[in-house]
Amino acid sequence: MAPTLAAAVFAVWLPYAVAASETCPTCSDDNELLQLTREADAHLDKDSESDPDSVRFRIFPVNLIRSSFFKIRAKKNVLTMGGGGTRAMCGTTGQLRAMHSMDLLKEVDQVVAMSGSTWSTAIFAFAKGFSVKDLLGKDTANSLNRLTLKKLKTPNGKILERAASDLTPFVAVAAQPIFAVPPHKLFEVALGGNFLCPFGLNGELPNGLCSNSNKNQVWTTSDKRLDSIKQRNPHLDLSDALVMNKNLKSLVVQSTLLAPVGYNPNGSRMVSTRFSADFSGSPYYADQQNVDFEPWNTSLSPLKDVVVGGGVVESFAFMSTLPPESPRRPRRPARRGLAEAELEDEGILSLQQAVGISSSILAMVGVSSPQFVIDSFIKPLASINNYTEEFLQDPYLFAPRRKYWPVARLAKGIDGDIGEKTYYVGDGFSIDSAGLLEAIRGGAECAVVLVNNGWPIEDKGTVDFCNVPEPILANPLLLLGTPLGLQQSIYDYFGIALPDTILRAGLDYSNNHVFETSEIFSLFCRAQELRDAGDATVVYRKYTTLENRHWGIQAGKKIKVVFVWTEKTVKWELQLPDKTQAAINSGAYDSPGTAGFPYLGTFSPKPDGSDFTAVLPEQGNLYASLTEWSLRQNQEKLQKCMGA
Ligand SMILES: *[C@@H]1O[C@H](CO)[C@@H](O)[C@H](O)[C@H]1NC(C)=O
Ligand SMILES: *[C@@H]1O[C@H](CO)[C@@H](O)[C@H](O)[C@H]1NC(C)=O
Ligand SMILES: *[C@@H]1O[C@H](CO)[C@@H](O)[C@H](O)[C@H]1NC(C)=O
Repeated sequence: MAPTLAAAVFAVWLPYAVAASETCPTCSDDNELLQLTREADAHLDKDSESDPDSVRFRIFPVNLIRSSFFKIRAKKNVLTMGGGGTRAMCGTTGQLRAMHSMDLLKEVDQVVAMSGSTWSTAIFAFAKGFSVKDLLGKDTANSLNRLTLKKLKTPNGKILERAASDLTPFVAVAAQPIFAVPPHKLFEVALGGNFLCPFGLNGELPNGLCSNSNKNQVWTTSDKRLDSIKQRNPHLDLSDALVMNKNLKSLVVQSTLLAPVGYNPNGSRMVSTRFSADFSGSPYYADQQNVDFEPWNTSLSPLKDVVVGGGVVESFAFMSTLPPESPRRPRRPARRGLAEAELEDEGILSLQQAVGISSSILAMVGVSSPQFVIDSFIKPLASINNYTEEFLQDPYLFAPRRKYWPVARLAKGIDGDIGEKTYYVGDGFSIDSAGLLEAIRGGAECAVVLVNNGWPIEDKGTVDFCNVPEPILANPLLLLGTPLGLQQSIYDYFGIALPDTILRAGLDYSNNHVFETSEIFSLFCRAQELRDAGDATVVYRKYTTLENRHWGIQAGKKIKVVFVWTEKTVKWELQLPDKTQAAINSGAYDSPGTAGFPYLGTFSPKPDGSDFTAVLPEQGNLYASLTEWSLRQNQEKLQKCMGA
């Protein structure tokens, strides 16, 4: 049954909603979640005693009727970033470099990242003591002829340096039985060791992986907000706290609540979950309904009518606390909720865990392709710790899991199962190919969608988007029938996707229809023309949204979008030194089993397939140079979109 959750929440939280709208003259009836950066008030609960076992945190229910709880900035420009392992990491590094060089980064209100693009953006947003150039590397766009084979051997900047370092040795340390790292934390711990440790941004790590280990690592937006957390929670150890540097205004790390442990993710019922330095959670309900779950573990019974979503909580409490019984009534103007709850044994969800969860592709691959996980992940580790037996029993063995309770539980009159449960939490890529939906429902007016695609967009010989064959016009789903059809990003926003593409893997883009289907043809026609002319494949378009109840998006919202693909780009290549061009065209930088450079593999991107995630320095440098150059060539489109 589908209770009217939204109405129930709305009734109970009416005082908050009303107060918020009064103080927010620019609020519309839209779901605005773009900037949750209202600074904490210093007077908050200064005088009351605190319980040493519990924490006090802010909590915001978000309803679907009127949800403008949050202060909105005048500009609403969002960079959204798709996944793809180190390919996404390198691509976004070049793209951030370009935005910075064009002085456009300051126009960006928010970055929505998922999976591999969180590996670069988490470093960029939180690392202290490094300049932008230290992190992103030197500009290459105006000196492509200097990218000699010799120069390419050294990673350009600290982030690309990490992309050239492989996860495998870190997994091998973490997997040693002496450390007792549970399998569902292996990937996260290796990411922390490889990507975050060199910048002091890691969470809890076994000895030997890193010189520091920050358990209970609170991460937040500003010193002021950290002070507020401290004031409310004087007993909390905040010595390892991370505060954002000033490189980005806001970073949303996208992930997915898959299913309670032992149950199958159900494509139509998965709920997008955001982590960010201010507020985290699942603000909406999937399709405004409660969720039923079927167990894969035959010892368990089906779950009916589970409440998932309904709001966000201050990040240091998200998936880190037991459920609060009821929110404390705020003292003065009822504008915020304050809750108190016991900390979970697992401790505070760290930046490392957010990054690990957002890129937990093993959760998906373990189900869709168990043999791949056995061959590429389990076998190399077998002499250290043999997971084969356990994995064959449990395909979700490597899926991260955390305790979750729905914010909606604090509303009176909620129907359904509101208990806390341990959930598999998965990759943002499970249900959104490139982060655009989060940007739209967050109130973006301009979204720059950085796809960093793993496969080429179709060539005209397969599907000519400028001259679409009649059968495809009549049934656009036929676009999925070509050899690369299912690999295409972005199609889902136009309603071209199938439900539960891979059974039980928790991969489903069929709820993402937000633009008129017919618009897909002119978009990809332009993309094909640009690519085939050797230009950067960057297309600027204006759209009006269709209603999408699954994501809580209303019909009729206007949004400007710049779609950015990373395709083979002849005009960029021709400016490289001859020997570099020759190396590219001889396949020296191709990943095995792909369409060649620049379509690097998400796994094993090196030409000899030798490492799990590392790229050659040459691959990383060239890929980032290509993505940098592509945006630099399109400064005008970006300025138009962002109103800069
Ligand atoms: C997902 O849930 C819907 C609605 O409850 C149900 O009809 C469908 O069969 C489920 N799909 C799977 C794969 O369990
Ligand atoms: C299935 O669930 C039972 C009961 O919770 C549990 O004891 C068992 O370990 C689970 N099996 C697997 C393979 O996870
Ligand atoms: C790991 O376990 C599997 C299944 O029990 C077994 O077939 C395999 O030989 C083991 N590998 C090693 C290296 O011990």
